[in-house]
Amino acid sequence: MPLEYRLAVAGDIPALETLIPLSARALQVGYYSAEQIEGAIGTVFGVDSQLIEDGTYFVAVAEGRIVGCGGWSKRKSLYGGDRGKKEKDPLRDPATEPAMIRAFFVHPEFARRGIGRRLMELAESAALAAGFRGIEIVATLAGEPLYVGFKYDVVERFDLVLANRALMPVVRLRKSPAPSP
Ligand SMILES: CC(C)(COP(=O)(O)OP(=O)(O)OC[C@H]1O[C@@H](n2cnc3c(N)ncnc32)[C@H](O)[C@@H]1OP(=O)(O)O)[C@@H](O)C(=O)NCCC(=O)NCCS
Repeated sequence: MPLEYRLAVAGDIPALETLIPLSARALQVGYYSAEQIEGAIGTVFGVDSQLIEDGTYFVAVAEGRIVGCGGWSKRKSLYGGDRGKKEKDPLRDPATEPAMIRAFFVHPEFARRGIGRRLMELAESAALAAGFRGIEIVATLAGEPLYVGFKYDVVERFDLVLANRALMPVVRLRKSPAPSP
């Protein structure tokens, strides 16, 4: 099935709000408990409309249906959707700060077909083209193998405290200096 990749637009938000929980509930089994996944949906796993507004978020489309999403950020937030944010998200300085890879979710029926990899290629090249020299990711344990495959180094492991008080172990990865675009 041919896949098309394009920048996300505001009109994609309802489809993304369906895709993100579906992806998390299916593809994070084995990495996190149901309590952890449910505690993260909405705040940690949710649509960050700032990325869409910035033109830094991509979608994968199969026969008109969004089956994957992911992107990068020039903003300070490390992770999370609109519901996890209280204030405006300031810009980072590409000369001194890394860009962030953000919010990768693939439809379970389309997992392990290279969609995550292609979205990573698009996000990394766009961040480098925007002048960033380093890239960081605060990743789920489910996402870690994808990013390690892109030669990111694990720099830190820590727990997020979720809306339901459950703890979610995550990993911070870094590629620095980033390769030339
Ligand atoms: C992580 C995720 C985005 C990967 O998407 P994907 O389209 O299935 O990934 P790809 O097919 O591009 O995989 C690329 C490589 O990543 C690694 N990888 C991806 N999923 C993996 C898994 N479940 N176990 C081990 N390695 C995996 C493999 O090296 C894979 O290459 P291979 O298939 O040739 O072995 C997807 O599993 C997902 O949406 N997970 C739930 C949400 C989530 O946790 N997202 C990460 C947020 S930081």
